[in-house]
Amino acid sequence: METVSALTVKSLYKVYGNRADKAVELLRDGAHRDEKLAGLPVTAAVIDANFEVRRGEIFVVMGLSGSGKSTLIRMLNGLLTPTHGTVEVDGVDITKLKPAALRRLRREKISMVFQHFALLPHRSVLDNAGYALEVAGRPRAERRERAQQALRMVGLDGWADKLPQELSGGMRQRVGLARALAAGTDIMLMDEAFSALDPLIRREVQDQLLELQAELGKTIVFITHDLNEAMRLGDRIAVMRDGRIVQIGTAEEILTDPSNDYVAQFVADVDRTRILTASSVMERPLGVVDVNSGPRVASRVLRDTQTSAVYVTGRDKRFLGTVTADEAARAVRDGKQNLQEIVSTGYARTVADDTPVADIFAACAESPAPVAVIDAAGRLAGVIPRVTLLSALGSMSADATDDTTAPGAAVPATDPSPATETARTAPAGSGAATREVPAQVAAEPPARLTGEPA
Ligand SMILES: Nc1ncnc2c1ncn2[C@@H]1O[C@H](COP(=O)(O)OP(=O)(O)OP(=O)(O)O)[C@@H](O)[C@H]1O
Ligand SMILES: [Mg+2]
Repeated sequence: METVSALTVKSLYKVYGNRADKAVELLRDGAHRDEKLAGLPVTAAVIDANFEVRRGEIFVVMGLSGSGKSTLIRMLNGLLTPTHGTVEVDGVDITKLKPAALRRLRREKISMVFQHFALLPHRSVLDNAGYALEVAGRPRAERRERAQQALRMVGLDGWADKLPQELSGGMRQRVGLARALAAGTDIMLMDEAFSALDPLIRREVQDQLLELQAELGKTIVFITHDLNEAMRLGDRIAVMRDGRIVQIGTAEEILTDPSNDYVAQFVADVDRTRILTASSVMERPLGVVDVNSGPRVASRVLRDTQTSAVYVTGRDKRFLGTVTADEAARAVRDGKQNLQEIVSTGYARTVADDTPVADIFAACAESPAPVAVIDAAGRLAGVIPRVTLLSALGSMSADATDDTTAPGAAVPATDPSPATETARTAPAGSGAATREVPAQVAAEPPARLTGEPA
């Protein structure tokens, strides 16, 4: 039977130093890594990790420097032997494998992309891309073909004969990615693979990875200490602290329901407007009427709900548009029997339910009635009144702004507060360009969460 999980990790520990087994025993009894272990000459790098990585997902491991991320990922392909616990790859416990079998595993099933690309300086881009295949002893012709193909995937087809030094940092990183792709493994481990890149290039390679992933559906474990990168790439994110995984969830779950204060603090200054979606801020629409109702029904609902327009739905609750009070009154005078002829679009703009909050502002500003949120089937899922969006942003920024920070300080980049938003969207001519800027700036990974030098 095909399992959905590509990797399964159970009670996994890695303790460096002598007496590692003793340390695991203490930890299993609940000792914290810095407390009772103090007497032992050990470092507990990974403590009781338990998780599954599903086939085809990007699983991000995020945590501060020293939290155990690299140690963890190196146990996933057998580069490090766990002190305790198991790692199953496609159902096989690799902790029991002999060295030769482990090497085969790394050739055939799991490739790794490193932070500093590990390119060979005197070999061509093509040879670098095919390097894993060379190590695997594949014939030259096959190597070249697969390396070419991988270079094409990462947009470097014209560069095969160049040397690494002739490429920019982002291009070199893509060669590293091409090498892993050429190897043709289903699982890719990426340890801080993009961390050495400057922010704009970093976003480019992130986009590229997401595009490739949409096409190839690899299983990817991606390590980063950058929260925004984690949120952008991860289908699910594991947060590590002091060797332990303290939470696993989607970006939205981690933001809206952090499992403890540590995670809450960790995510405090992420740009929530890019993570939270329309469906997380929408409200139940007050007045919804079926298109087959008469204009009198619409008028009464408008009166009862004290709103300026009713939301009209048709078969299967599909959203058709709105009818305003004036339109309804006129239809009553004209003796119309249903709303079919008078329902119109535009009075309430629509957004898809998975639209990031950051991208709703324009629709909200232009929409006389609360924006209609539409699900994948075209149904009316909810509405977002302007005031709701503003107050949602208000609470986002209240959460996000550390109380040691002056409220204004966070405004420009990561924190589209109500005040700035109004200012930004108010003048009609100020247009898209102005609105674009904050979102882009905000999405740049600020170098943070780490004591590491940039
Ligand atoms: N070979 C080793 N011998 C002894 N201790 C080690 C070894 N490798 C790592 N450690 C320790 O284990 C802990 C976890 O290290 P690890 O490299 O896994 O962290 P990390 O989360 O990858 O950090 P970074 O973000 O800086 O890469 C650290 O305290 C580190 O000092
Ligand atoms: Mg590391």
